[in-house]
Amino acid sequence: MADDATSVRSVDQRAERLRPFGATIFSEITGLARAHGAVNLGQGFPDEDGPAILKDAAARALREEHNQYAPLGGVPAFAEQIARRARLGRAVDPATEVTVTSGCTEAIAATMLGLVNPGDEVVLFQPFYDSYRACLAMAGATARYVTLRRDGGRFTFDPDELRALCGARTRAILVNSPHNPTGTVFSREELSVIAEVCRERDIVAVCDEVYEHLVYDGEHVSLASLPGMAERSVVCSSLGKTFAMTGWKIGWTVASPELTAAIRSAHQFLVFSVATPLQHAAAAALGSDEAWAWVEAMRERYRGNRDALSAALSGIGFDVCGAEAGYFVMAGTGPIAEKLGVQDGGWRDTDLCKRMIEEAGVACIPPSVFYADPDDGNGHGHLRFAFCKRREVLDEAIRRLRRWLGG
Ligand SMILES: Cc1ncc(COP(=O)(O)O)c(C=O)c1O
Repeated sequence: MADDATSVRSVDQRAERLRPFGATIFSEITGLARAHGAVNLGQGFPDEDGPAILKDAAARALREEHNQYAPLGGVPAFAEQIARRARLGRAVDPATEVTVTSGCTEAIAATMLGLVNPGDEVVLFQPFYDSYRACLAMAGATARYVTLRRDGGRFTFDPDELRALCGARTRAILVNSPHNPTGTVFSREELSVIAEVCRERDIVAVCDEVYEHLVYDGEHVSLASLPGMAERSVVCSSLGKTFAMTGWKIGWTVASPELTAAIRSAHQFLVFSVATPLQHAAAAALGSDEAWAWVEAMRERYRGNRDALSAALSGIGFDVCGAEAGYFVMAGTGPIAEKLGVQDGGWRDTDLCKRMIEEAGVACIPPSVFYADPDDGNGHGHLRFAFCKRREVLDEAIRRLRRWLGG
């Protein structure tokens, strides 16, 4: 018989459903960037904190004894602010239609675990945010994929590909708009196609809208606001990106009372409730003109960052895709092949990323990791650069890339 202590150490202890996912690319790239002293434009978090008003409100909440369990659905004052700002095209009841979660990540996990049965299918657009597939695996659901393809300056999807994937087993479509990593903001026309499929086939739309307030071109339209969609949508968002407080992990869902009951059935056993003092601070933020003015100023700064980084990458030789929103720019790598002495298509984006960290001292993310099949041709033609950084950090990255590639 195997010695218990030995077998626990020597055998992979991860449940089978989680084995395909490994460590996230963000930890790997951050580790490599540190080892080589690289400027890190990999992981999407701002290198400056959000507005002081949030910190002051959090400190006040701590001192004023808001330190015990919050209600399962969230602190009422915060739920009211979320309900007031929801874009469902109708009034939202904070008591029965809002659930405060541990970031948007838990909002999506609780939605999937609460709504989806083993064997159900859920449609994802790829490239996708990395937690989606693992959530579906934990729920025992099967992921089906629609591929976003670059069409000139932006990524979009083929409506027929979406229609062909959705059938009797499809429980939900997960729609991330504004989209990470492509920066696409789905237009009203694109959303109408998704809405039509949802209505016709009785499918729930799960809308990840974490970048809703960071739109630089066009406007963010919530899929939930389209005709017939309010009752079949779960809108997931969070405070982190909007107020540059990603470490707070304060998120939420907005959905009909029936969908909310399902989400809460999972949420109550995942975390039950979320940090009380931070919810009080979040309520103060959403209700504060000063905090929203700060967000607007940040958006303008990021617009400038996007423009500067995009122009510099184009100048160096990348085929830059116009980021309409969010934290990232996708840069096509085809044109720099010659400069690097590689046949176009003769590299993997992961190899190119590692080479760039070692030779140029700049780190970014290889988007092939956001595809179900990393060998999918769509995955290898781009690199993802974060521009949610201080300008001097971006300038240093640009200087290093110019030194590496010329231009
Ligand atoms: C598309 C998308 N959804 C969800 C999240 C996670 O949000 P949170 O930090 O609020 O859990 C991120 C964070 O990068 C994201 O880019």
